Amino acid sequence: AAPLVVAVDGPSGSGKSSVCRAVARHLGTAYLDTGAMYRAATWSCLRAGVDLTDAAAVAAHVRAVVLAMGTDPAGATTAVGDVDVTDAVRGAEVTAAVSAVASVPAVRADLILRQRALIDAACRTPQPGRRAGVVVEGRDITTVVAPQAPVRVLLTAREEVRVARRAQQDLGTADAAAVASVRDGVVQRDLVDSRTTDFLAAADGVITVDSSDLDFEGTVEAVLAVVGRAT
Ligand code: C5P
Repeated sequence: AAPLVVAVDGPSGSGKSSVCRAVARHLGTAYLDTGAMYRAATWSCLRAGVDLTDAAAVAAHVRAVVLAMGTDPAGATTAVGDVDVTDAVRGAEVTAAVSAVASVPAVRADLILRQRALIDAACRTPQPGRRAGVVVEGRDITTVVAPQAPVRVLLTAREEVRVARRAQQDLGTADAAAVASVRDGVVQRDLVDSRTTDFLAAADGVITVDSSDLDFEGTVEAVLAVVGRAT
């Protein structure tokens, strides 16, 4: 069968990561989290004390960062050099700084090339027992990284739903106080990110899946249905 590339974009809190992993598991393909690449680049800049307002310094630092992305959907990992940063890149410090790093055009050009190489590798030389192809998630996958992908999905959810999910995920509850404390983070990061990448509206040919009124399994099925129709 031809390699299967499924490109998924969407805002934070849309459930992208868990849904995309499950979709990749169902399809038997690899999984690539491009947000983790921007997060790992940011982690490295913070550790090295790079001035994040100095775009040239940020780009020069990121160019030298050795990123190793594990693409197994059952346990995707991220490493910088030989340091496993899978958990560290989820921390509040990286989350607060990542949009600044991702807004540097030379950083994007660099990571986009690496993302395309990883997609090619997953298509040409799949891991043993895996189907050729990859489910790739991010903000600009359907439009910039892989606009030729046979399946392109924008995974969205209403803002109040995304904020509640993030509160549940990060704080273990979606009560009013938890929701209030994550709202600014979610809304603000999307606002800043949307100045760099346009993931709020579906580009031509991109299918929107709105998960607001779907549970996790329902969302996975909805994305798999788009894959089924397109292939
Ligand atoms: O998806 P996640 O929240 O892990 O992404 C972290 C950040 O990486 C986003 O807030 C955005 O700034 C950046 N990003 C991006 N383009 C992508 C994926 C992520 O700019 N394709």
